[in-house]
Amino acid sequence: MAAAVEVLRDGEIVALPTETVYGLAADAFNAEAVAKVFEAKERPSFDPLIVHVTSRRGVDEVALEVPEVARALVEEFWPGALTLVLKKRPEVPDIVTAGLETVAVRMSAHPLFRKVAKEFGRPIAAPSANRFGSMSPTSGSAVVAELDGRIPLIVNDGGTNWGIESTIIRVEDPEEPGVKGLKGKAKITVLRAGPVTVEELKKFGKVTVAAKEVEGEPVVPGRLESHYAPKTPLRLLESGPAGFVAEEGKRYALLSYRGGEKDGYLDLVEWEEVKVLSPGKGKLPEAAVRLFSVMRQLDGLGVDEIVAEGFPEHGVGLAIMDRLRRAASECS
Ligand code: TXA
Ligand code: MG
Repeated sequence: MAAAVEVLRDGEIVALPTETVYGLAADAFNAEAVAKVFEAKERPSFDPLIVHVTSRRGVDEVALEVPEVARALVEEFWPGALTLVLKKRPEVPDIVTAGLETVAVRMSAHPLFRKVAKEFGRPIAAPSANRFGSMSPTSGSAVVAELDGRIPLIVNDGGTNWGIESTIIRVEDPEEPGVKGLKGKAKITVLRAGPVTVEELKKFGKVTVAAKEVEGEPVVPGRLESHYAPKTPLRLLESGPAGFVAEEGKRYALLSYRGGEKDGYLDLVEWEEVKVLSPGKGKLPEAAVRLFSVMRQLDGLGVDEIVAEGFPEHGVGLAIMDRLRRAASECS
């Protein structure tokens, strides 16, 4: 931890665990340090970073306006896996926000990240610690696979809690800000589905899930059609096992939800490998935790195609399907 703080103070970058996925951290107010993050990730400069603050009040260090509903959401979900897109303060360097008027802010709940952030005492810009377009790392070894030799320090704390990236939302207050009892009136747009679910957000306003492209909204790569992708082609069976036709001589691996005989996937073809995300009953949070690590394992097999089952689109299942769709070269 001490080494991580020192690296940040030196204007260098460090991979740190958060409760969602590992992040590649830099001093958010040091544009040169932030530039190193873009370089290590080979991330295009039009893709803005998330800023992690050290306390709930820290939101005001980077955001200019914090609507009342945003305060309520911060109270409820921070520290945690919810990122809010808010009007930015001019002090936040343009490189962090890719020149946007807004900044994405969250407060991590990971004990180690929190300690480093507190000790460092300044907001930390941190995208996921993977090369651009690749899968987010959910373990220290996955960070090594993505960034070894490119960054001075990786802090390994084993697997992350959620296994997928935070929920990103934009909020709009109702017409009369400042009135009590905003609940149910504000407009909340989910820009990226994640661990904080639509169901949970509904308590705070009317929730819509943004389509791939929203008019007037910058195109953000987390929402690009191809992202979070393994090198092996991935096919998503959106509409069940019936959509699958195996090609002669090709080797396939199955990414299964429950691994149930009755689901109809197990005997579709002679699988080279079957990985089950939540054996038995099928629990979506458990599946989410294992999603990227299992995708990495399957990617290492050298099969011709990874075939993924469709997941139920409620709760965190919405985020799982979002990631699988972007990872997929083909859906059927
Ligand atoms: O769980 C997480 O969110 C992880 C951990 C490390 O905090 N971070 C993460 O960061 O996933 P990143 O950079 O991989 O994804 C952030 C997404 C990107 O798709 C980016 O385009 C979008 O957030 N984003 C950042 N600033 C934005 C803004 N001002 N408006 C809209 N989208 C924004
Ligand atoms: Mg990312």
